[in-house]
Amino acid sequence: MRLDGKRAVITGGSSGIGFEAAKLFIEQSARIALIARDRARLDSAVASLGTGVIGVAADISRPDALKLAITDIHNQLGGIDILFANAGVSETPPIAETSEQAFDDFMSINVKGTIFTLIHALPFLRDGASVILTGSVAARKGRPGDPLYAASKGAIRSFGRTLAMDGDVLARRIRVNVLTPGATATPLTREATGNPEVRAYIAEMVPMGRWGEACEIAQAALFLASDASSYITGSEITVDGGLAHV
Ligand SMILES: NC(=O)c1ccc[n+]([C@@H]2O[C@H](COP(=O)([O-])OP(=O)(O)OC[C@H]3O[C@@H](n4cnc5c(N)ncnc54)[C@H](OP(=O)(O)O)[C@@H]3O)[C@@H](O)[C@H]2O)c1
Repeated sequence: MRLDGKRAVITGGSSGIGFEAAKLFIEQSARIALIARDRARLDSAVASLGTGVIGVAADISRPDALKLAITDIHNQLGGIDILFANAGVSETPPIAETSEQAFDDFMSINVKGTIFTLIHALPFLRDGASVILTGSVAARKGRPGDPLYAASKGAIRSFGRTLAMDGDVLARRIRVNVLTPGATATPLTREATGNPEVRAYIAEMVPMGRWGEACEIAQAALFLASDASSYITGSEITVDGGLAHV
């Protein structure tokens, strides 16, 4: 699944699933640009990925800053063939204690930020580009105690399917798919994986009996990014050890 000559933008590329995808895309000869907020972590990710990787610090929940970041990346790369809109967060307050501010802060990243990533990148996407949105198995199964997170990923799942059928997107042969991870060991889930009881409890819920690794999710991102998936759009690829089925 080579990506020769392709140029990829990965939001949330400084950590976890996005970082593993960046490594794989580079191995397959893509040029890469990463977006994340924390400058130090971004610089360290860029340095570890080797030469030619672009890192632009921006908060996807701020559409103006995001637009500048994407425009800057477009100018440096000279076009975008792959957009992996992957950045997201999972900390939500208990629903009964959710203030309007907390709701807005959370949804501004997972929903508004992801959708504005698309809005600002769409003009720069080359014909035949691949867009990958990171969803979650929580959108299908729900996540007990965390309805806001599940709802945010439900919005992304629906947005992706619908955007894929947009007339302009189809005319430009742009494919849009949702990549749906299950329980995956990354910094996002460090609290759960760091607690042996919680880690084992979640592993037992998964039919395959274990957590996923970020590199396993990244393999599906590579497939969706590459021409190997050239006839797939408006679809969802679930990488969850079977969790969605129980
Ligand atoms: N891990 C799982 O079990 C799991 C399961 C289902 C879905 N997912 C989804 O997979 C995606 C990646 O998660 P991960 O597990 O790889 O988490 P992670 O290791 O915490 O990585 C998240 C990345 O997103 C960036 N990010 C977060 N908020 C941002 C913002 N406002 N603006 C720009 N960048 C931002 C982070 O960098 P900064 O903090 O520096 O900004 C980081 O690079 C998320 O959408 C998550 O919801 C994860």
